[in-house]
Amino acid sequence: MPEWLSDAVFYEIYPQSFFDANNDGIGDFEGIIQKLDYIKDIGCNALWINPCFDSPFKDAGYDVRDYKKTADRYGTNEDLKRLFNEAHKRSIRVVLDLVPGHTSEDHPWFVESAKAHPAQYKDRYIWTDHCFTRPEGLGFIGGEHERAAVYITNFYKCQPALNFGFLKPTEKWQLPVDHKDCLETREAMKDVMRFWLDAGCDGFRVDMAMSLVKHDDDEKTGTQAIWRDIRAMLDKEYPDAAIVSEWSNPSQAIKAGFHMDFFLAFYENSGYQNLFRNYKMDEYNNIIGDDNSFFKKTGKADIKCILDDYLFHYKNIKDAGFMSIVTGNHDLIRLRYALTPEELALAYSFIFTMPGVPFLYYGDEIGMRYLNIPTKEGGYYRTGARTPMQWNNGTNLGFSAAPSEKLYLPVDSALDAPTVEAQEKDPASLLNRVRMLLRLRHAEPDLQSKANLEIVYAEKERLPFVYKRGSFVCAVNPGDSVVSVPLKGIYEPVYSVGQCALENGACSMETQSFGVWRIRS
Ligand code: NOJ
Repeated sequence: MPEWLSDAVFYEIYPQSFFDANNDGIGDFEGIIQKLDYIKDIGCNALWINPCFDSPFKDAGYDVRDYKKTADRYGTNEDLKRLFNEAHKRSIRVVLDLVPGHTSEDHPWFVESAKAHPAQYKDRYIWTDHCFTRPEGLGFIGGEHERAAVYITNFYKCQPALNFGFLKPTEKWQLPVDHKDCLETREAMKDVMRFWLDAGCDGFRVDMAMSLVKHDDDEKTGTQAIWRDIRAMLDKEYPDAAIVSEWSNPSQAIKAGFHMDFFLAFYENSGYQNLFRNYKMDEYNNIIGDDNSFFKKTGKADIKCILDDYLFHYKNIKDAGFMSIVTGNHDLIRLRYALTPEELALAYSFIFTMPGVPFLYYGDEIGMRYLNIPTKEGGYYRTGARTPMQWNNGTNLGFSAAPSEKLYLPVDSALDAPTVEAQEKDPASLLNRVRMLLRLRHAEPDLQSKANLEIVYAEKERLPFVYKRGSFVCAVNPGDSVVSVPLKGIYEPVYSVGQCALENGACSMETQSFGVWRIRS
């Protein structure tokens, strides 16, 4: 386990939208370099950069055309290496986004494999044996290429699935995971990882990590075995490199060898949904009906339901890896869409005092809004969470000096659009709240990734929620009534949102409050 994860706090950057240093309307590596001091200053010490490789950008770069070459719009490989160096000078780690499950349909491997008689890469992707043979239970495309077969997709049409094999092949065209050609695909991915690790990156966020082996079983046995093999390579050759999976099942992902997995689950009423996103939307992304998220003042989410999910994974993975709770990401509607800044302060206090490795999505530190705007690069509803970072009140909110019509995406035009500059000056701002929380976390090992979590008070449909982290007690009351529970001991307050007290044998929480106390006895 890379030691640096024990106090890591990640900052996710969607590179298109962070900072445009060359004024062409789109963010770039140099822009990220110029903002490293800002990132360090808010308390983040690791970056996850969304795919920044050569791509036709039909899915914002998750359709990679060349794994070993950066996209021109962000800069050169040398610029990215400079970014690694500059980040390391400031003790910031950098993980890149690895997309192992599929490439762009323009990737030279695919172009070759789609020929009537491929000279190589015949089985680098999954092709059936006939132009009318349809793979059962898998997305596929036919009729587009010379090759008289259909190919399996992993996500969009533009993203053919790489061939890591089938768990239990039932047709001749389905190869077993240990077939030479499937092993070659795996080695090709290791080669990509070595390439960037040698260039100075510190690891990878792995896209759709659970998607490699087709017709896998529920436990993802086949896919897990592949990742364990890749992890063995890392342990041997790059023991300081970290991998975080997009698996949405930490129990499986950590067993598969990942150091971290996101605490994300998109099925209805999952613990994750109940925390921040327990609402329904219509086709125009308007929230319909009640928002019952736990952190909503009027929300009705049950902490027990959230903990059932969280603790199930927590117990399974303990000591072997971490769960990562995110403030948001490039696929999610921003939290600010449904939560007020007051509610965000409570949600962030929770995220940054929980175990595991937390992730802050760029702009969430100032409560950037989700914008209802037309799709870009395959984003659809996600596009509104990918708009330019809001630095100040200048041209294009300080993101770029390009004419506004040239921007990658429009900036928030609201008169009260939050900016870094304005929030820097306000001691009570969300930005300064995040700084305060991260300062506390970095100062206290008991609030960091590894320290134990113990539930002190969590009752069905009751508040507050009280938990212990080593020598600290944390309590939150997101609701609209005053609540109190008995709690013996002597405590010293170290952090709070709103009014709360832990004294005279009781934990008393006013509406919308959060407290952290050091246990004295
Ligand atoms: C998950 C990524 O986060 C998302 O943005 C992308 O569209 C799909 N995987 C496909 O790679």
